[in-house]
Amino acid sequence: MLTFRLNGETIVMDQPSDIPPAHASALELLRERLCMTGTKEGCASGDCGACTIAVRNPTIGAEWQSVNACIMPAGQLHGLDVATVEGLANGSELHPVQAAMVNHHASQCGFCTPGFVMSLFSLYHADSAITDQSISHALGGNLCRCTGYRPIREAALQMRATEGHIAPWITAQAPLPRLTTSAQNDASPESVRGFYQPTCIAQLSALLEHLEQPRFIAGGTDLMLESTQRLKDFDHLVDLSQVDELRTVNEDADTVTIGAAVTYHQLAPLLERCFPDFGLLLYRLGSQQVRYRGTLGGNIANASPIGDTPPVLLALEAQLELLSPEGVRTLALEDFFIDYRQTALRAREIISRIRINTLAPHQQLKVWKLSKRRDDDISASLLAIRFTLDGEILRDVRVALGGMAAIPKRAYQSEAVLEGQPLTAAQVEKVRSALADEFSPLTDARASSHYRLAATANLFERLRLQLSSTDIATELLDATAD
Ligand SMILES: Cc1cc2nc3c(=O)[nH]c(=O)nc-3n(C[C@H](O)[C@H](O)[C@H](O)COP(=O)(O)OP(=O)(O)OC[C@H]3O[C@@H](n4cnc5c(N)ncnc54)[C@H](O)[C@@H]3O)c2cc1C
Ligand code: FES
Ligand code: FES
Repeated sequence: MLTFRLNGETIVMDQPSDIPPAHASALELLRERLCMTGTKEGCASGDCGACTIAVRNPTIGAEWQSVNACIMPAGQLHGLDVATVEGLANGSELHPVQAAMVNHHASQCGFCTPGFVMSLFSLYHADSAITDQSISHALGGNLCRCTGYRPIREAALQMRATEGHIAPWITAQAPLPRLTTSAQNDASPESVRGFYQPTCIAQLSALLEHLEQPRFIAGGTDLMLESTQRLKDFDHLVDLSQVDELRTVNEDADTVTIGAAVTYHQLAPLLERCFPDFGLLLYRLGSQQVRYRGTLGGNIANASPIGDTPPVLLALEAQLELLSPEGVRTLALEDFFIDYRQTALRAREIISRIRINTLAPHQQLKVWKLSKRRDDDISASLLAIRFTLDGEILRDVRVALGGMAAIPKRAYQSEAVLEGQPLTAAQVEKVRSALADEFSPLTDARASSHYRLAATANLFERLRLQLSSTDIATELLDATAD
């Protein structure tokens, strides 16, 4: 059964022939089956924002989250409130976001407009203040190629002061049932056409006993591209995003344990508090739509050499808890990445938790991501370094890099150079040589090998300037670096 509420109306799909196959996207369901053609398809890869809708899980909270319908599987709509651009106005009475867009002439061809409206809808109904920064975060995943952003931003600044119609279902909050599963009906793929949504570890384990070769999905922000870009079908897709135990964060005196299905959005406040540079990195990872859905477990399991969080987690000595029908095992993240996109995960095994130690007194974590754009862009290179400062001496140094090898990797030679020494200009030059010795990065569309080596080495110079003083040079460097 697939049940959700679309613009306030309950949709129930309980006939096997009604239910979309596992690989179908929410966008396909909305446009092709439910005729919500206001929601557009541009790139089908999460990059343009034309397909943005807003969803909310009424059993969890009242927050509307903007998501890319093109890379959300239709099965994940289950139990959600869904808002599309068609649902906002009442005849000619526009929602305040729409009215502000009209008042500020914020649309020309209009193709991008439904996506902008839905991203702003999510911001409009959020608790947060509307500032230049919150607008940038909300719109970082929406492209407009003909109006230009100034009028859209002006509409955003004025939308809460604009009169308009807000339908009662937008602010009401009544739960919908979650998909009820048992080991029995989990084992009969017809009931859900290959899409399984367990809600606890016990259900997940029972399910894995029956499925030979399941594919796992959490936020789908990587996996769904296999379907939309490479036209792959998934026979059995097991959704980890609703498994309660995988969505929790636990903190004790010196450890943080993060469920693999915790989203970036959920994680941001914790990281900002415990690891400020890691927290800041999240706002450079994808777009708001991606951060609402993408998970830490997905970023690790995806094993991309340019994934943003693995180098940071390597620098932080993260440990993974892995779960399969055979039981639970623990593995250092460092032993998880084997070769390009190859990991130590066994068949039917998932990452269940990620454990990291909090920073000890005098310990620091610095993270820098280099990419062509500030928002919604993948790294050309990423440096994460954790160290303890003993006067001017660096101790217990761990350096990890993204974009420099086939896997996210520690820079052992650079660590050896830095360990037990003050970070002087001469040391930075030694690190430059050590990096060139230990890494042979690729040249590709993002950056040349030479750029990757030179720019990454320059980040150590940046660190030196930061540590040596707070003089004008450092401030200038910081102000211009992004
Ligand atoms: C527009 C856009 C921008 C992006 N920008 C960035 C960026 O700036 N930086 C970056 O690092 N990434 C970026 N990504 C990639 C992606 O968002 C991240 O890698 C994200 O963390 C993936 O998490 P997910 O939950 O969506 O994974 P999914 O897509 O659900 O899964 C990814 C892979 O991991 C597996 N998997 C998921 N969870 C588990 C688990 N718990 N155990 C075992 N296997 C699992 C899946 O089977 C799949 O193979 C971007 C993606 C898009 C579409
Ligand atoms: S169609 Fe471009 S983000 Fe979905
Ligand atoms: S109005 Fe044409 S792309 Fe934005």
